[in-house]
Amino acid sequence: MLVNFREMLGEAYEKGYAVGSFNVYNYETMRGVCDAALESGTNSVIVAFGAKYLENMSLGEAAALARALSEERSLKLCLHLDHCKSLETIYAALRAGFGSVMYDGSELPFEQNAANTARVCEAAHACGVSVEAELGSLAAGEQSHEGEKTDREIYTDPAAAAEFIEKTGVDALAVSVGTVHGLYKGEPNIRLDILEDINGRCKTPLVLHGGSGIPEETIRECIKRGIAKINVNTEISVYAVSRLKDDFAAEKPPHLSVLSIRQREYVKETVKKYISFFGARA
Ligand code: 13P
Repeated sequence: MLVNFREMLGEAYEKGYAVGSFNVYNYETMRGVCDAALESGTNSVIVAFGAKYLENMSLGEAAALARALSEERSLKLCLHLDHCKSLETIYAALRAGFGSVMYDGSELPFEQNAANTARVCEAAHACGVSVEAELGSLAAGEQSHEGEKTDREIYTDPAAAAEFIEKTGVDALAVSVGTVHGLYKGEPNIRLDILEDINGRCKTPLVLHGGSGIPEETIRECIKRGIAKINVNTEISVYAVSRLKDDFAAEKPPHLSVLSIRQREYVKETVKKYISFFGARA
């Protein structure tokens, strides 16, 4: 069954765990995430299809695939549109059957970001779809695949976060507290003090982008401070590609059909690791 993330995140926020949101680009990656959820015994998982991957699959194809995968496995799955700056694409995702959408107006001035997010909330909520928005801006680490972001990092202002939620009615807020998109160049420096302040004022499920490479202990500290959804993209790709590279190097390279199966296995391995870090239960 395809679901929205409102209930999933509400429960995670209350009970003190995080739902994993894993980026997918095709059948193999989506299947790998579903298999990881099933093998981990959790019924709370998000497959995140980024607006930037529309060249890989259309919104309709992503929705049909997610629906078939969840129904065949009786898996509660949330299909989420990740990082989308275009209102048109968001409305198309609502029509296609996505369960949640992320409107990313983080590069806009506060008022404009809030006004656009409120418009998205009005349309999405009328369709039973949940909405995530972002305030603040993450820097890009090594091998980041999240667009044209730079080294510049803007931490989320806790008072502004509370005002933003009040003005927009958003279901979950992505915050910038020191994580980066991509792999970390050194040790991650996560500002738990800022996160705690945001959580104290907002009382709304918070989202941590840039999940790749955050140590397990730090993840737990973030969850204690309101993080209920954690996004992972880069490490899924980096790990699978490094394993596929070894496969290609074999004396007799595998058949394409075998590579497809291996791809989903490699995705599953990374996703299972993070699901165990996030502490999600059925
Ligand atoms: P990473 O690529 O750093 O895991 O971040 C993923 C992400 O935040 C997707 O929205």
